[in-house]
Amino acid sequence: MISRETIDEVKSRLDIVDVISDFISLKRSGQNYKALSPFSNEKTASFFVVPAKGIFKDFSSGKGGDAITFVMEHEGMSYLEAIRFLGKKYGVEIKEDVQSDELRDQQSEREGLYILMNFAKDYYKQKLFESEEGKGIGLSYFRERGFNDRTIQKFELGYALEGWNNLSDEAIKQNYNKELLEKTGLVVKNEEGRTYDRFRGRVIFPVHNLSGKVIAFGARMMGKDKNQPKYINSPETEIYHKSNVLYGLYQAKNIIRQKDNCFLVEGYTDVLSMHQADVENVVASSGTALTEEQIKLIKRFTENVTVLFDGDAAGIKAALRGIDLILKGGLNVRVVLLPDNDDPDSYSRKVGTSEFQKYLAQKSQDFISFKSGLYAAEAGNDPIRKAESIKEIVGSIALIPDPIKRSVYLQETSHQLKIGEPVLLTELNKLLIDERRKKDRDKLQPSRRPSESTDELEEQIKDLTAAPLDAKDMVYYQERETVRLLLNYSEHALDDQKLVDFLINELDDVEFSNPVFREIYNHFHELLHQGKVPDSQYLIQHGSSEVKNVVTGLITARHEISPNWKKKHIYIPNESEVLMDLANTNVLRLKFRVVQKMMSDNLLKIRDSEQAGNLDELENCLEQQEGLKKAERELASLLGIVVAR
Ligand code: GTP
Ligand code: MN
Repeated sequence: MISRETIDEVKSRLDIVDVISDFISLKRSGQNYKALSPFSNEKTASFFVVPAKGIFKDFSSGKGGDAITFVMEHEGMSYLEAIRFLGKKYGVEIKEDVQSDELRDQQSEREGLYILMNFAKDYYKQKLFESEEGKGIGLSYFRERGFNDRTIQKFELGYALEGWNNLSDEAIKQNYNKELLEKTGLVVKNEEGRTYDRFRGRVIFPVHNLSGKVIAFGARMMGKDKNQPKYINSPETEIYHKSNVLYGLYQAKNIIRQKDNCFLVEGYTDVLSMHQADVENVVASSGTALTEEQIKLIKRFTENVTVLFDGDAAGIKAALRGIDLILKGGLNVRVVLLPDNDDPDSYSRKVGTSEFQKYLAQKSQDFISFKSGLYAAEAGNDPIRKAESIKEIVGSIALIPDPIKRSVYLQETSHQLKIGEPVLLTELNKLLIDERRKKDRDKLQPSRRPSESTDELEEQIKDLTAAPLDAKDMVYYQERETVRLLLNYSEHALDDQKLVDFLINELDDVEFSNPVFREIYNHFHELLHQGKVPDSQYLIQHGSSEVKNVVTGLITARHEISPNWKKKHIYIPNESEVLMDLANTNVLRLKFRVVQKMMSDNLLKIRDSEQAGNLDELENCLEQQEGLKKAERELASLLGIVVAR
């Protein structure tokens, strides 16, 4: 046990902002700090840190407490693990009381498991580099596969010797507890009660948790014995729950945050090879479909996942199901299809780092369009199979939680499949309404009713704060779209007016929030009022460097049409053929987004006034929110969006 003094010492050094900032990025808000809740999928920040009191409160999950609680909740640590972790951070020497009976309680059992797993990891590592067998078989195997020492060290790879009791003998010799050793799963007991090492004559891949502790091992066989499984893995233990671990996440997490994208592959070796190809934002599902917990785990670091598929057709179809779960988790999914018969490991080695990176960049495509392309090609002109494809694809779109994203996808799918948006929309709404009903039924089950907070105002606020608003980003996206249309098609005739007239008239009451887009928009606005013809060339020659940059970016083609699609005779309409549609939806969407942005700003006011006990202000804001909600609904119905709230 850690001594009382040590615990007090650690506590006295804690700075809650400093501690929490190691895990999530906090934004200052007056005396306090706020952030998106790391414990739920919210879109509006409701996670607060109050440094003066040394506490945090997460309104969306209801969790709250001091810095120690935060570390426990966030990292899945026990109290003592959190103290050790924080002690290390603040350089406090951890003094242990003499071990006693308490060793048997659950907390120290977990500690014990970690210690044993760490011992085993060091043991396997040492055997890899220092034993004749390890060097001759394990190390040369890794080398043959092209893994360099840096990679081997970074992932702490090892080797388990042949023989039944090497690891257990060493553990016993070093006075580790035998019973606990069995609980790690490193040692197995047979029917006669005799124990033996689980991993023998295999190379070892340790699995780390988010704070870098080893919690399990994967072990690959050497040679090609058909009667043995290729990989053996640790069983579930007190510290290892397979469904909420991703291989490589510990090594990748910072880069995933930086790149704002996470590559998803199948195998241990894929992760390693990608690191060697300088693609370090990668995790492996270890051969199975992702679980909800694993998706949440990724979502703590990014909202963007790129799935790498091995190129065989059967495998792709099977994998599509798993991806639906990722969509449902609210993540944006892209896919990269690898050439036939290659996995990321073999392909990256075959073509080398720069080619591999280029391939990833060029071949990555949005999942929904990928799926549409796949099904459309299969269905050909067969009407029945075409109908099935539509169901399939709309089924995936229906899983996406954000209504505006759904509507964008619907539009793109409509173009891609040459099927009218209303048809798709009807299908989509059918699915959404079914889903809605199912949810409502679940809610009515008394057992699942949330606790008794019946205060009406409180309920209302809770409702509002749960709204899925990521309005700022979406405003950005729509402003960019407006500017893109202006730059590319300002002179285009729509019915009886030019596109530029239409957009500028419609958006007269909208103030652009992005400064660069605003500048470009204003340029068009002004010239139009002076009766001149605005054009992008002028901006490229005279704009600021940021403006130039944006303009050149936006006048180059947006969608590169995959040559595959053309080969498969999938018709994709030219943008100028559908301009009226595009301009119209753009205007509506921009207004829709602006309204949502106002709603999310207003929400913060609601919360502040509620906290300050300013009831007049609160009532005011709530009223305003109602008005905005109504506008939102009207715009939504014009856009054919079901607003899920
Ligand atoms: P190499 O053949 O060494 O390149 O391994 P790989 O990582 O490419 O393996 P593969 O693509 O065959 O499988 C992907 C992942 O599925 C592996 O990394 C393992 O996590 C898991 N896996 C593969 N084979 C087995 C097995 O026999 N048993 C278990 N439990 N898992 C396996
Ligand atoms: Mn492989």
